[in-house]
Amino acid sequence: MRLPFVAGNWKMNTTVSEAEQLVVEMIERLDRTEGVEKVLCPPFVSLVPISMMLQGSSIKLGAQNMYFEAAGAYTGEISPLMLRELCEFVILGHSERRAYFNETDEMVNKKVRAALKNELKPILCIGERLAENESGKTEEVVSRQLRKALEGIETGALNIAKKLVIAYEPVWAIGTGKAASGKQAAATIHFVRDVLAQIWNDGIAQDLRVLYGGSVTSANIAEFVSYPEIDGALVGGASLKADEFVSIARQTAEIKGKKSS
Ligand code: PGA
Repeated sequence: MRLPFVAGNWKMNTTVSEAEQLVVEMIERLDRTEGVEKVLCPPFVSLVPISMMLQGSSIKLGAQNMYFEAAGAYTGEISPLMLRELCEFVILGHSERRAYFNETDEMVNKKVRAALKNELKPILCIGERLAENESGKTEEVVSRQLRKALEGIETGALNIAKKLVIAYEPVWAIGTGKAASGKQAAATIHFVRDVLAQIWNDGIAQDLRVLYGGSVTSANIAEFVSYPEIDGALVGGASLKADEFVSIARQTAEIKGKKSS
């Protein structure tokens, strides 16, 4: 049984006071929503105040990125040691990091390893670009990104299925209002589990949560989470609206709850 999962990636939006306000608007309703793991990923500067606001709630905190070194002369970077006092999760390999900040598969691999070593749970993002999708290269890209990001990661000692979450986010669907169809997303996520089974084994592939991301809203979440392959969503734009994100979490819990009962 995989616990459904929804995460809100606020990206470079909200000042500290705006972030606090957004949490105020959603905390009670989100906290009461059971049967789904709920994670908020605000900008770094809001992690401290929001971690305090979330104390005693069922809502968890995640960062949007981190560097792989523990400490040192890396001006402007944030390390796993800094994050692990504040959050449980960290988004790694987001396509915006890959596209705008030149993050390579090798860097993503170093980050995933550093996160796991420091007891942070990575939300590893993978996904193909439009041209790759149109030329039939989706599986090739997704397979390469996964294999490289997960290279050298031992499974047994780390209990990897409990610590890693994968988000399949086709780049052409992110922030465009043009989501993939549930069917397309489910087919690729099925393939993601085939690759995970080859990297590790089928048990891990079945236990590990895989999300869809890309223009998810309260109006289309049901289409995605109705597929048994899709365990939830990584939500960008819609996670900046309290009503939207609460609705996405509730629908996920409700639909997945019905399927398992
Ligand atoms: P979006 O972003 O929901 O705004 O498309 C998703 C993401 O980047 O995780």
